[in-house]
Amino acid sequence: MNPQILITGAPGNVGSEVVRVLQAESIPFRVGARDTHKARQLLGDNIEITRFDFLDPETYIAIFAGIERLFLVRPPALSNVQRDIAPAIQAAIKMGVKQIVFLSLQGVEKNSIVPHHKIEQMILASGVHYTFLRASFFMQNLSSTQAAEIRDEGEIALPVGKAKTSFIDVRDIAAVAVRALTVGYDEDHKYTLTGKEALDYFQVSDKLSSVLSRTIRYTNPSVFHFLWKQLASGRKLGYTLVVAALYTLTRLGNAKEITHDVETVLGRPAISFDRFAQDYRHCWQA
Ligand SMILES: NC(=O)c1ccc[n+]([C@@H]2O[C@H](COP(=O)([O-])OP(=O)(O)OC[C@H]3O[C@@H](n4cnc5c(N)ncnc54)[C@H](OP(=O)(O)O)[C@@H]3O)[C@@H](O)[C@H]2O)c1
Repeated sequence: MNPQILITGAPGNVGSEVVRVLQAESIPFRVGARDTHKARQLLGDNIEITRFDFLDPETYIAIFAGIERLFLVRPPALSNVQRDIAPAIQAAIKMGVKQIVFLSLQGVEKNSIVPHHKIEQMILASGVHYTFLRASFFMQNLSSTQAAEIRDEGEIALPVGKAKTSFIDVRDIAAVAVRALTVGYDEDHKYTLTGKEALDYFQVSDKLSSVLSRTIRYTNPSVFHFLWKQLASGRKLGYTLVVAALYTLTRLGNAKEITHDVETVLGRPAISFDRFAQDYRHCWQA
């Protein structure tokens, strides 16, 4: 049977978890990936994987054929929404997509600079059904982007001072996404997905130190030092500026709000930071 659900952003952090949950629940779906070979290696052979590149309109017909429900992830490297994201959204709707479950950002409604704001506006204007998953910072940033720094240098160098973050586990985002993709889509939703506690990075480094039985330091750099280090390590300017802007908002206290949307949707509490740290401790071990 032709699957009606399309997952983008796999094999990325959230997309791969969405795939895992759909597989566990035996729900048919298709994955759209830039590199189908790599996706197959990471996600497994028994999945329908079709080539999809936001930047290649020739991939749109095969990927959206027969699809009714779309899990949309904006790749972090694509910041020009009108040029890089809009053509795929427009093609999806033209080809019959009825619902978009979009991985968005906590506080996006008050922040018109980030690409997610423009994408939400575009989806709202299109009239398609939607669920916005406005996620807080992922716990898994610490086990992916920050992993080498923690493992090799024993430190976390993010420019947020003593500000708190209501970190969420991507496994919770995936569970909410699958719920949104599998219940009726007549009702639209805007969920703000956070963990159940807000922590500062001094607390985060204390928790990691305790799980790893060695000291992890939070170095609390200035935003300028952070920018310099990111660019020196080869990250692109556009990406680095978006990330620095997000951490500056965190520093100003914008990432500390806690909501109960995860529990409302799933009927169980959000995964705690302590459990995340235990489950991912291998990422920081030599
Ligand atoms: N990190 C956070 O704390 C946080 C919090 C809230 C919201 N968000 C948002 O979540 C999104 C990122 O989610 P994530 O961490 O799951 O992503 P991710 O791990 O960076 O994965 C991105 C995926 O997009 C794919 N991709 C890249 N360029 C593509 C293209 N041109 N066409 C099609 N696919 C492409 C990548 O494929 P390849 O594997 O081929 O590269 C990868 O599978 C971003 O929009 C981010 O702003 C992040």
